[in-house]
Amino acid sequence: MKTAISFVALTAALSFSATVPPIKQLPFGEVDGKPISIYLLKNAAGMEVTITNYGGAVTSIKVPDRNKALGNVVLGFDSVAPYQTTTSYFGALIGRYGNRIGKAEFQLEGKVYHIPANENGNALHGGTTGFNKRIWDAKDVSTAKAPALEMHYLSPDGEMGFPGNLDVTVRYTLDAKNGLEIDYSATTDKATVLNLTNHTYFNLAGAGNDTVLKHRLTIRADHYTPVDGALLPTGVVQAVEGTPFDFRHGNVIGSRINEDNEQLKLGKGYDHNFVLNEPHTLKQWAVRVEERSTGRVMEVFTDQPAVQFYTGNFLDGTAHGVGGDFKFRSAICLETQHYPDSPNHPNFPSTELRPGEKYHTVTIYRFSTEE
Ligand code: GLA
Repeated sequence: MKTAISFVALTAALSFSATVPPIKQLPFGEVDGKPISIYLLKNAAGMEVTITNYGGAVTSIKVPDRNKALGNVVLGFDSVAPYQTTTSYFGALIGRYGNRIGKAEFQLEGKVYHIPANENGNALHGGTTGFNKRIWDAKDVSTAKAPALEMHYLSPDGEMGFPGNLDVTVRYTLDAKNGLEIDYSATTDKATVLNLTNHTYFNLAGAGNDTVLKHRLTIRADHYTPVDGALLPTGVVQAVEGTPFDFRHGNVIGSRINEDNEQLKLGKGYDHNFVLNEPHTLKQWAVRVEERSTGRVMEVFTDQPAVQFYTGNFLDGTAHGVGGDFKFRSAICLETQHYPDSPNHPNFPSTELRPGEKYHTVTIYRFSTEE
């Protein structure tokens, strides 16, 4: 009898700890007269993520350090207004085409398409009004095990010059092992190109800390794509061996960032597309970041062929957000993606999507600690 009671108590305790609190929806301001919300996702381990339906942006991620103290590790703001004016894409969903398209144009099936240029005559992150400046529909799709928020946006045919009505769904799931999974899917009714990603800025020491130069980074990439003066890929796929781009065995980010290296000068630091080694699966991490003072670790899993590693070289302290001023190199972005400007480089993996096909890709940012 005694055993039976404790068994019941144990199952009750287990099912209780496995049940996640419901997603909380809170006001975040207004855009064009429409109320914007922020959604708070919490898991049983205590990790907290907030996401807004403006730009589908991740606005904070709170994870424990090695002493179990929760801290926010991403750059963000506490209301929607700064997200409307910033040009730094804080936390946002990026589309239709992450990174640059040269001369803001491309050809597809014999037709030339023009995107409104927003950087040196080129298109950056989808043109003048990308997915980061759109209002998404948000829906709670949580299960008993994991809070999940689904974002939906229908990008009309011709928006920012891209062909096809593009129906996009992005699902954020916070799993029980402190992973934030981003699941992207899309369909089109005309042949088009797309390259979706997320532009969260991470500082594992805590948002508002001065630099990320002491973070230690490992990238499973034997190659990267060098850039020209406009940060467009030259088309060459270059070995990282013997260069400051060799992160295969783990390097402190700041150890070589100021070297007299042409590519680092063009990027004002790291702002380059790393070609991930195959296989591109979620079974092993592609990127690992460690921050010694807090013991925090982040591993990035992705099925994408590449990752843009950016050291916040355009941040200059003028944006003031939660945690302080966002200074030069005070965060890193790890934008899992296809190569920049692929539509203009037939030697790069294709970013084309046709009617009847389904675009589907997953990236997970998983947090843990080490001694
Ligand atoms: C990307 C680009 C950078 C910069 C940021 C946004 O990471 O590669 O050059 O434009 O977005 O500031």
